[in-house]
Amino acid sequence: MNEKKSFYITTPIYYPSAKLHIGHAYCTTIADAIARYKRLDGFDVFFLTGSDEHGQKIQRTAEEKGVTPIEYVDGIVAGFKNLWERLNISNDDFIRTSEKRHEKVVREIFRRIYEKGDIYKGEYKGLYCTPCESYWTNLQLDENGCCPDCHRPVEEVAEEAYFFRLSKYADRLLKYIDENEDFIYPVSRRNEMINFIKQGLEDLCISRTSFDWGIPVPGDEKHVVYVWFDALSNYLTPIGFLDDAEKFAKFWPADIHLVGKEIVRFHSIIWPCILMALDLPLPKQVYGHGWLVVKGDKMSKSKGNVVDPLLLIDEFGADAIRYFLLREINLGQDGNFSRDALISRINADLANDLGNLLHRTLSMIGKFQKGTVTEGANNAFGESLQKDALAAAKKYRKEMDNTELSDAVKTAFAFIGRANKYIDETAPWALAKDEGKKDELAGVLYNLAESLRIISIMIFPVMPDTAKKIREQLNIPADFADISMDEAEQWGLFPKGGMVNKPEQLFPRIEVEAEEHAEKTAKAAKNNKAEKKHEQVAKANESASQISMEEFAKIHLRVVKVLAAEAVPNTEKLLKLTVDLGDEKREIVSGIAKHYTPGDIVGKNVVMVINLKPTKIRGILSQGMVLAASKGEDLELISVDMPVGSKVK
Ligand code: MSP
Repeated sequence: MNEKKSFYITTPIYYPSAKLHIGHAYCTTIADAIARYKRLDGFDVFFLTGSDEHGQKIQRTAEEKGVTPIEYVDGIVAGFKNLWERLNISNDDFIRTSEKRHEKVVREIFRRIYEKGDIYKGEYKGLYCTPCESYWTNLQLDENGCCPDCHRPVEEVAEEAYFFRLSKYADRLLKYIDENEDFIYPVSRRNEMINFIKQGLEDLCISRTSFDWGIPVPGDEKHVVYVWFDALSNYLTPIGFLDDAEKFAKFWPADIHLVGKEIVRFHSIIWPCILMALDLPLPKQVYGHGWLVVKGDKMSKSKGNVVDPLLLIDEFGADAIRYFLLREINLGQDGNFSRDALISRINADLANDLGNLLHRTLSMIGKFQKGTVTEGANNAFGESLQKDALAAAKKYRKEMDNTELSDAVKTAFAFIGRANKYIDETAPWALAKDEGKKDELAGVLYNLAESLRIISIMIFPVMPDTAKKIREQLNIPADFADISMDEAEQWGLFPKGGMVNKPEQLFPRIEVEAEEHAEKTAKAAKNNKAEKKHEQVAKANESASQISMEEFAKIHLRVVKVLAAEAVPNTEKLLKLTVDLGDEKREIVSGIAKHYTPGDIVGKNVVMVINLKPTKIRGILSQGMVLAASKGEDLELISVDMPVGSKVK
């Protein structure tokens, strides 16, 4: 029987104590890209995420809000699920530790290990703050040795509790880590863990009696199972641990537990020991990824630097966020999140490189071949492109197989750049002018469509919606359930004689607000000194920045009439203008509201750059720019007494 290879990947289950931020979304996006890639590569994938709902903290917060813990977490978990849906996360299951199916697993695991003698009843000693009902360690106390929350004295108390014999497994674990180089990744974390274990492992307290929002210990129900023992067991629940032996045999051991660096310890020490006590095989890999930080600081509610992923998705779309996270940050290291960097990536890579490649290709196929892709003739440029495409796909696969996601994304985009270069090399617009070169032209356009087909496969794990849109515009099958990674390593699969669709913009350029620009100019004007210096520098640069007539001729200037004008809501400086170019009407957004009221400018004939790349400003597609003269704080539109449609040269 030709059984599909299986692949089991998990994210941590998230605490519902706070709203999820972009750092949590980072972890889930990585897992999603890996899962999507593996599916393309022919694996039967099980991708799990979920929520870690028990514990004293949740119980307290619920009490403060006057609701039951489950009522409290239900609302939050609905928010998690909504976020994953908006981010296009393709998890196969979502486990909640409050579910009955999970409770069954935890109790059974507890029972088995207890019967084996590796769980025993003992005494948990700690520093207890009675008003807060919390245990603290010496390190957590405030500078006066008091409770770090209420700053009242703590007392040493002892409470009956169950312990798991972690210490018993230390040597076996060290041996396993030693024999399985890839078990803990990256290497730096592996070394950290080895050192930690070598210092000796203490048995782990796995129950509490001081609260009851948790899973009762079988046979001793005043205890609830404590945090990590409960949480880690989640990985066994949905793959049939107790109820589907075949499924369990297929997916266990997990291929990757993807976790943030601060919880590698729990996954690579406590979890393997629990599994050894259960006589189950250990996961193949615990991958500790770095944190997403803001200006070098980890995101946290108390620092007020959390970035809400939903707002970003609303503004830029899920694919752009996914792209940024996976491209910008090397998996094992911390990476910085910044809005400016995000916008630069969108503009340079997505709107410009990828968007233009698709747009140019489809426009030329439409214009030169009435939308049809035919085989045509190949030449040396084409052969080199083809070689580079296949090399890129091969490299990409290797990087994805090694979980080098950022490198894989870079490889895909390097090939996008390569294909753009191919357009410049072959200049299809010149071939189109020559009747004798029709075949060559067809070959160039075929190669471009074929390159985009391959690109769509390479970007799918990272930008699933965009990959689908590209294929829809190319008019080739767009359901990735039926597409295989192998198709990226084959040249010539684009259907000959196929018709493509009209190009549609994939990613609008994000204008770093025309407003902001206007503000900067105004500030500079106020500072006369700075302006003078600027003028001197401009003068010095003038000769260096001279342009040729050909370059100047690329700017198309025309006299247009302003038909209507209105303020752009919630801005101080922007006006939306409707202008008549003579042969068409367009909308543009202009930063002139401080100098002109709508009434001042309607009816004026002004000069406009008409071939400026369209850009979205405050949600309005601005297709051009009117020219103005400015000095200091004064500004005047260039208005001429010439008929609409006149060229300005
Ligand atoms: N509930 C535990 C995990 C139990 S797994 C059996 C937990 N939850 S958490 O909500 O605090 O964190 C979940 C994951 O989010 C962790 O892997 C953590 O590293 C990750 N992140 C939280 N903030 C992050 C960043 N700023 N950047 C990257 N990942 C971050 O721990």
